Amino acid sequence: MASAISVRMAGVKPPKAVKYEAITGILKECDEVVEDFGDSTALDAGMIAAAQTVERYEMASYGALRTWAEELGMNDAAKLLEETLLEERGADQLLTRLAEAKVNLKAA
Ligand SMILES: [Fe+2]
Repeated sequence: MASAISVRMAGVKPPKAVKYEAITGILKECDEVVEDFGDSTALDAGMIAAAQTVERYEMASYGALRTWAEELGMNDAAKLLEETLLEERGADQLLTRLAEAKVNLKAA
């Protein structure tokens, strides 16, 4: 994902380092999944679900940023953010296919 650098080049100020509490919480949930299901076949299903939480958080963020960029007339940035949003959506869909085709059945 080269979009963070590319968006900066497209005219968006570089972000300051920020600790995102939501991501910290999601990562904590991942640790809990490993603790709770570490020795069972449900671990992979739990990890996929946790990864999808991250992807969907990213999709919400990139979608908002893309819309704001469009509204501000920052068309190059909006295009890059749309591409990144599509990448995140693709990752989420891939995880769904993986879970539904194999992992969830093994975990059941
Ligand atoms: Fe992602």
